[in-house]
Amino acid sequence: MNAIVVADRNWAIGRDNCLLFSLPTDMKHFRAMTLNGTVLMGRKTLESFPGGDPLPRRRNIVITRCKTFARDGVEVVHCCKEAMTAVEDADPDTVWVIGGGSVYTCTLSQCKRVFLTQVDTLTEGADTFFPNLDRLPNWKQVSVSESMEENGLSFRFMEYENTAL
Ligand SMILES: NC(=O)c1ccc[n+]([C@@H]2O[C@H](COP(=O)([O-])OP(=O)(O)OC[C@H]3O[C@@H](n4cnc5c(N)ncnc54)[C@H](OP(=O)(O)O)[C@@H]3O)[C@@H](O)[C@H]2O)c1
Repeated sequence: MNAIVVADRNWAIGRDNCLLFSLPTDMKHFRAMTLNGTVLMGRKTLESFPGGDPLPRRRNIVITRCKTFARDGVEVVHCCKEAMTAVEDADPDTVWVIGGGSVYTCTLSQCKRVFLTQVDTLTEGADTFFPNLDRLPNWKQVSVSESMEENGLSFRFMEYENTAL
């Protein structure tokens, strides 16, 4: 299982249940990586999508503590352990944790890789963060792309690997 995330230099990922950045190149990257796979997300991240709809052409699994939550095209699980059971038969390289902050945190130790788009900025007022992998002992950066520019922002694709798995 892998995680995919876009964050600023401080690992900030969201504010007011919205993304911090609009980067078409990163959206294309996200789509290409996750297409035809399984995406695992928190209920708030699902609600942040247009119309609260699941992502097309992917198996969508949503974590919520609400026992009555149901949405067309979504598999619902009620804890991280149940989420891990739901994906245990899938090819791990095709299972993607896509946020938000709480789900990244509770699944991080089970992720082999994190695909980070790091935006070279610091965001005011962010309220949701990804764990700082540079400060966690089991995580090492294994690749980094050239810097790209879009919408006045510089960003790079980075890959981190969990050496404990
Ligand atoms: N930058 C990025 O790449 C990226 C990606 C995704 C999201 N985001 C941003 O992240 C923010 C949302 O993150 P968030 O942490 O607030 O919300 P979230 O992780 O998307 O969803 C939180 C909800 O998921 C459910 N949940 C989480 N952990 C659970 C567990 N262990 N067991 C059962 N249910 C669990 C709960 O739903 P119930 O309340 O229904 O019980 C909880 O309220 C938004 O700003 C979004 O735009 C950023």
